Amino acid sequence: MKIVSVVGARPEFIQVAPVSRALRERHQEILVHTGQHYDYLMSQAFFDELDIPAPDYNLEVGSGSHARQTGEILIRLEEVLLKERPDLVIVRGDTNSTLAGALAASKLHIPTAHIEAGERSFDRRMPEEINRLVADCLADIHFCASRRAVERLAAEGITASVYWVGDVMLDAMLQNRPIARRKSRILERLGLEPGTYGLVTVHRAGNTDNPGRLQQIVTGLNRVPEIVIFPVHPRTRKALAQLDVPFADHVRPIEPVSYFDMIVLEENARMIATDSGGVQREAYFLGVPCLTLRDETEWVETVEAGWNVLVGTEPERIVEAWLTFSPPADRPPIFGDGRAAQRIAEILENGVVGFGAPRG
Ligand code: UD1
Ligand code: UDP
Repeated sequence: MKIVSVVGARPEFIQVAPVSRALRERHQEILVHTGQHYDYLMSQAFFDELDIPAPDYNLEVGSGSHARQTGEILIRLEEVLLKERPDLVIVRGDTNSTLAGALAASKLHIPTAHIEAGERSFDRRMPEEINRLVADCLADIHFCASRRAVERLAAEGITASVYWVGDVMLDAMLQNRPIARRKSRILERLGLEPGTYGLVTVHRAGNTDNPGRLQQIVTGLNRVPEIVIFPVHPRTRKALAQLDVPFADHVRPIEPVSYFDMIVLEENARMIATDSGGVQREAYFLGVPCLTLRDETEWVETVEAGWNVLVGTEPERIVEAWLTFSPPADRPPIFGDGRAAQRIAEILENGVVGFGAPRG
């Protein structure tokens, strides 16, 4: 089968590595990078480190408003799809690249698969929620990371071609952790001892476009009695520059790190605080307590399992949870067994592809 895979943002590069490997054993894959993320540390660094095949096309759309970015991807991707005429387009996650990929393919009557289908925050002010709803509505095949996602799709009337395969982020983690442990020198570089620091990431529009919330997060971090390592997303760097709230000495903002460095920083952290979907799950995979700097999460299973707590952005709540949060011993395998990519490739090989309904 000829498959076009669409990627554009950091978590999509990390996920595409195991999926591409599995797909290419059985199928022809054409990789399209939309150019949504483009800084070296947000894009090419992952292709280099994870040995991801070079994209066959880079649409180079860059940043812009939602309409402009989504529209540009739509226009440029349509040309590629008309030229390549693939049997299937794969999109993943909830970015503007996901939305535009699903839309461009569906309008050309090309079957579409959505990886990480069925995730919901039930907050339509999140751009990601709109992207997921549309992608799931348009997709012909839904690959779900958790059983809960399958149930959510069923509640929306989506039951055909829905597969619980597990989380491809877990595949990426299991494949790369041993290599990261061998190769990363990040702890030495930052002078860190395992278990003596917290790791923080922030990039959600709800936190970065709202100066009040971002200021609260910085205030909270400034009050925790521990070293805080904070790899700063470019969006957040720009928002922080407008704020003029200094970080306390123990809070160490750094450039975005590579995936290997991130794995090592995560697994040796005593605590993680984040608004990232990927980092919440990775904290769970690695058994590191996680404070989510949001009021809701798609990844409710991690909260129910007792490993993740929604703290929002109030400084008092961040500090209190930082000092007291302690997860249970048990960590059920919510996200599968790390063989999601293999399952996806097998399901596709068995021919369960059809426009609007399963054929196989
Ligand atoms: C996007 C996704 C989000 C995902 C995140 C992963 C959407 C709507 N959001 O958010 O779901 O969690 O990626 O990181 O698709 N910028 C740079 N250099 C880059 C990329 C971005 O400077 O290489 C800056 C630009 O100022 C840009 C801003 O970051 O306007 C936001 O980038 P964008 O891709 O629109 O959204 P993210 O916040 O990265
Ligand atoms: N990540 C990384 N370097 C960083 C921050 C994050 O490699 O400096 C990885 C992280 O380990 C996870 C993914 O990027 O695999 C998550 O991406 P992000 O937080 O940008 O987006 P989200 O998951 O929220 O969509």
